[in-house]
Amino acid sequence: MNDKITVVILAAGLGTRMKSKKAKVLHEAGGDTLLNNIIRAVRQVASAHNIVAVIGHQADRVKESVHEPGIRFALQDEQRGTGHAVMCAAAAITEREGQLLILNGDGPLLRPQTLRRLLDQQESPGSGGKIVTTRLHDPTGYGRIVRGGGGYVEAIVEQKAANAEQLAIHEVNPGLYCFDARLFWEHVQEIRPDNPANEFYLTDMVGILSRHGYPIAPVLVHDSTELLGINTKAELALADSILRARKAQELMLAGVTIENPGSVLIDVDVHVGADTVIEANVQLRGKTTIGVDCRIGVGSVLRDCAVGDDVNILPYVVADSSVIGTKSSVGPFTRMRMNAETGEDSHIGNFVELKKTKFGAGSKASHLAYLGDSIIGEKVNIGAGTITCNYDGDKKHTTHIADGVFVGSNSTLVAPLTIESGAFIAAGSVITKRVSQDALAIGRAHQTEKADWAKRRRDLNKKK
Ligand code: UD1
Ligand code: CA
Repeated sequence: MNDKITVVILAAGLGTRMKSKKAKVLHEAGGDTLLNNIIRAVRQVASAHNIVAVIGHQADRVKESVHEPGIRFALQDEQRGTGHAVMCAAAAITEREGQLLILNGDGPLLRPQTLRRLLDQQESPGSGGKIVTTRLHDPTGYGRIVRGGGGYVEAIVEQKAANAEQLAIHEVNPGLYCFDARLFWEHVQEIRPDNPANEFYLTDMVGILSRHGYPIAPVLVHDSTELLGINTKAELALADSILRARKAQELMLAGVTIENPGSVLIDVDVHVGADTVIEANVQLRGKTTIGVDCRIGVGSVLRDCAVGDDVNILPYVVADSSVIGTKSSVGPFTRMRMNAETGEDSHIGNFVELKKTKFGAGSKASHLAYLGDSIIGEKVNIGAGTITCNYDGDKKHTTHIADGVFVGSNSTLVAPLTIESGAFIAAGSVITKRVSQDALAIGRAHQTEKADWAKRRRDLNKKK
């Protein structure tokens, strides 16, 4: 990686047109914030410590939202324009040589290949830098590219300042610049807020450097889709659908089968192994990872989960922050949350909820159970209707169930509780005390029988 690349990401604006209290770069597309999406692309061409994000609106929240370590931040207290934002970054930058890459913080679709192309385009000595341009059918709102001699960019004219002739230009500035760092820092103070908005326009640097005899070269990108800058919620939704389609495509090319690619929502950071089948309407969110040879059933929603290899997830499983062991099966209609963990070859069936529970290898809970704050060993059988009573109205308590235990149906396990290995719990029991190894525990009323009672009752009713 070239250490002579310094990157400034402009992310201080509120984004008025989003009509939201939330700073623009905090809005999400593809399951991650606009800013994180850009950082992901930029990290392919620069080291984290060479990246400075200029923040302002909700600076603390924006800072916290960045998950890439090592990124530096510069504060722009008052948003006085994109040029002013870069000036605010100056103090955080020691490198004054090499290439200075500047990007708007609201373009989440940018591909690393395009950044590479911009950085790698060779310019003759004496060039002031290069900027990406693209042609739009409707250029409204964008800065227009005014070309001069030799095809160089002579100036960028903002919508508000443009005359009729300039407004007719379809080649626009998507907000992606690569300046000669030395020349940029030498002349940046020449930007003046001499426009109706009284802002410091970064785009003025193009005209400034050109006038000093340092031409700026255009790097024309034909596919304008990836240069879309997000200004409204409608553009946000468009970016989101494009990122999702790209992700599905990337996974399919890596050997994942997706039965109805248009219906699934897979976040950008998700990993899925080859030969896994993803059925329709599945959502894979956050940092979810899925092994090879799995099947993810229709309608399942997994967030921040780690799924092993050869796992069968049946339809409509909802799991958060949980681990699903290799060769196990889960669902349909299973809920797992708060670090629930199932071991290898285990089976969790319909209408079972696991919360903060470790469920051992080869164990089964096939139907209708709530297992919360529990540590469950290997080869345990949990009968239908088993409930761990983990909450006493004040505190949560743990249930320990050792290896080989059989819990009969409809058992109520009142925590704190330990059931030692090999024990057997009779169906319908309410268990409140420790159960010893290999014992049978029965916690229910004894059954009594009254001979012929039912028949006598029927006969009596008939006479009435
Ligand atoms: C800018 C460009 C315009 C280009 C368009 C592409 C300028 C003057 N104009 O206009 O030529 O076509 O982007 O989308 O640069 N920001 C700050 N601090 C500020 C102002 C803005 O950090 O004081 C950040 C914003 O958070 C945003 C980015 O800079 O991420 C662009 O700002 P925005 O207001 O969207 O610029 P445009 O008016 O769209
Ligand atoms: Ca914009």
